Amino acid sequence: MPRSNTRQDVEPIVWKGGRLHLLDQRKLPHVETHLELHRAADTARAIRDMVVRGAPAIGVTAAFGLALEAKHFREGKVEADFERAAAVLLAARPTAVNLSWAIERQRRVLQTLAQSASSAKRGRLSAAKTTAVSPARAAKALRETAQAMFAEDVAVNRAMGAAGAALLKRGDVLTHCNAGALATAGYGTALGVIRASWESGRRFGVFATETRPYLQGARLTSWELVKLGIPVTLITDGMVGALLASGRVGAVVVGTDRTAANGDVCNKIGTYTIAVLAKRHGVPFYVAAPTSSIDLRCASGADIPIEERSEKEVTHIGGRRIAAEGVSVFHPAFDVTPAELVTAIATESGVVRGDYVRGLARAVKTAQKKLG
Ligand code: MRU
Repeated sequence: MPRSNTRQDVEPIVWKGGRLHLLDQRKLPHVETHLELHRAADTARAIRDMVVRGAPAIGVTAAFGLALEAKHFREGKVEADFERAAAVLLAARPTAVNLSWAIERQRRVLQTLAQSASSAKRGRLSAAKTTAVSPARAAKALRETAQAMFAEDVAVNRAMGAAGAALLKRGDVLTHCNAGALATAGYGTALGVIRASWESGRRFGVFATETRPYLQGARLTSWELVKLGIPVTLITDGMVGALLASGRVGAVVVGTDRTAANGDVCNKIGTYTIAVLAKRHGVPFYVAAPTSSIDLRCASGADIPIEERSEKEVTHIGGRRIAAEGVSVFHPAFDVTPAELVTAIATESGVVRGDYVRGLARAVKTAQKKLG
């Protein structure tokens, strides 16, 4: 019988009173405070500046950003205003496909509204013209879709957690970066798998890498796991080889920002190193990938744009310079783990292994069918 003994979840994204409130993840674990946002431009800035981060959370936030902006859409200019806001949001961060996935979904909502408005008008007036969508109708539809996407993301993570939990059979678990509730609308992807296993009654410890340079593991994953009451041990990224060689880790589980059609997995910088080491030590390497993070338009990882962030994130810690003046910096924020190093990929449609091209396409199709 599953035991639901994990504690209260964190709330990274809150929609209240027609406003978007984001938990400011830059301040964690020291201060828990939400920022209130009003327009698409604020929302894009919050995504770019890492107030909110993690692929599914970025997508859901962008969907709400469009709902916020819709209150300012002008009569007769709804589509143009939508596209302007969409472009601002899309430019915020390049790697997580959830951002464009969410914007495309909102665009389809608007297109459907425009089509139904014009066919209603044709019915009444026999006019063949496209009818403009009213700003009020657009705002309502975009808001309701963002709310639905929020709820779906939590449900998807729970389903993926249940499917992936069966993969964690022995030993402790190693995870990288933060793929928890904070990186999603709730529950988490890789941490969702870990939580589901823990909630089923299995007992184990979690090793979290600190995740240089932005320290998502030290600041966010360890905070979430402590809150959940799941034992967590923090290591620096350079300790992964020694840890895996010790035999304590039974599985690695990570999230993904974009997984290509062939199963190449793009995730936080350092993931590839862990996958190579896991292979070397015979430890299975699992990925928790909601279908919103699977990009079938990318044939392989080579097609995925890799974000390069400010060199200050490498040369400074907590606002203080740690590197010598004059040093140059290489700072890709993500890397690609080739499919051959990935033991299996958990999705909300089930676990995919072996033939990723077929399995991932099928998982995406199953998820789309469910949505209708
Ligand atoms: O730069 P970040 O913090 O947005 O990177 C986040 C990650 O790499 C996560 O592992 C990924 O988004 C999966 S989150 C469920």
